[in-house]
Amino acid sequence: MQQRLDKIVASQGTLSRSEVKRAIRSGRVMVGDRLCLDPSQKCDPEQSVICVDGAPLAYRAFLYIMMNKPAGILCVSRDPKAPTVLDLLPDSLRRKELFPAGRLDKDTVGLVIITNDGVFAHRLLSPTGHVVKRYQARLDAPVGVRETEAFAAGIVLADGTRCRPAVLRVLPQGEGLRTEVEITEGKYHQVRRMFGAVGRRVLALKRCAIGGLPLDPDLTEGACRELSEAEKRAVFEMRE
Ligand code: URA
Repeated sequence: MQQRLDKIVASQGTLSRSEVKRAIRSGRVMVGDRLCLDPSQKCDPEQSVICVDGAPLAYRAFLYIMMNKPAGILCVSRDPKAPTVLDLLPDSLRRKELFPAGRLDKDTVGLVIITNDGVFAHRLLSPTGHVVKRYQARLDAPVGVRETEAFAAGIVLADGTRCRPAVLRVLPQGEGLRTEVEITEGKYHQVRRMFGAVGRRVLALKRCAIGGLPLDPDLTEGACRELSEAEKRAVFEMRE
């Protein structure tokens, strides 16, 4: 699709539109083998190679980033006081319109998807999409068959909210304290409140997978990378 050159370049990085205009007027931007000095010139970023300061722009309309969120970081786009997941992105992955597709609590760690594709995020988060989110939770006291059955039946939270049926697995060799939980909703503090409803406290919580996309074990806490096409599809390949 044909778009203004200044709009295309600005959409791919952190430079403002006026900074990009200045860069174009001062001869730093080429389209194909031609120097372009007019910010309003139209071109198709999927068809033409655009170079800024000699470096080709790797144009992508949308970014899809997997992050291993550390504890203590807010899962929002912006916060005046505390660091957010967007603050952890390297310069090469910064875009103005990025946001985390779904929230984790400040102290929850693990898989977060950051994107600027609203349709993808809506599909992922929509309650009717039933995308499974898998967590590992460490508890203050053991759980067993009774709690597993309660999760499967649908937990009623302290405020009366009924949750959809969820899977609770007790992990081997964890003395009943290490568990895996699968939910298909995203209610506020849901996993912690579900355990609260059966009289347990969550001491540590990690999101390990969204749909069929597991957290890359090579990503250290705070690190991120782009998703492959297959990984983007995998998100929607495991639903309830
Ligand atoms: N459930 C919670 O309680 N916290 C999270 O961060 C995610 C799910």
